[in-house]
Amino acid sequence: MNAEERNYLVLDKIIERYGERPGGLVRVLYKAQELFGYLSPDVQTHVAEKMCLPVGHVHGVATFYSQFVTAPQGKNVIRVCMGTACYVKNAGDILDRFRELLGVETDATTADGRFTLSTTRCIGACSLAPLLTVNEKVHGHLSVEGVARLVELYREDDPDPDEEVSPVERRRERERQRPASDQGAAPPPH
Ligand code: FES
Repeated sequence: MNAEERNYLVLDKIIERYGERPGGLVRVLYKAQELFGYLSPDVQTHVAEKMCLPVGHVHGVATFYSQFVTAPQGKNVIRVCMGTACYVKNAGDILDRFRELLGVETDATTADGRFTLSTTRCIGACSLAPLLTVNEKVHGHLSVEGVARLVELYREDDPDPDEEVSPVERRRERERQRPASDQGAAPPPH
């Protein structure tokens, strides 16, 4: 039995346990997403058949809640908060800057699979506005200028295996090559 088959077995047990309860479908879909990473059409169809529901209904729930995703996600999922407190503090411009830097639209994943760009509603931390989350981590008090640094930070955590020199090494190398005067060193004695 492969991993996918095992996941379907676990999912069927969840459906047996929660399928009949109020709110059971949402609970089942949460578990399905946890198991498979996202709610593919196959998974939605499986849930619909097992719960004797129309596929369209399951799909409607899967696409209604922002917590559910119906396409594969990148390694780093960026969610820019578009709630009111963040929106009035330039969240739209921050989102635009991510689009520009990553070369993807909202709710899309970069070709190398490193980043998925998405939005979220208020996550209840408005004092940090404007903010976003990358996976589980919250980054607050953002600026448009800080977006590039954030992207670089997550790229450095996950260097391209095809690159001989990691971005961190390259930066260190640049630092080493900079003239001493640029690095704040004392000028040579006259
Ligand atoms: S509006 Fe963004 S955290 Fe509340």
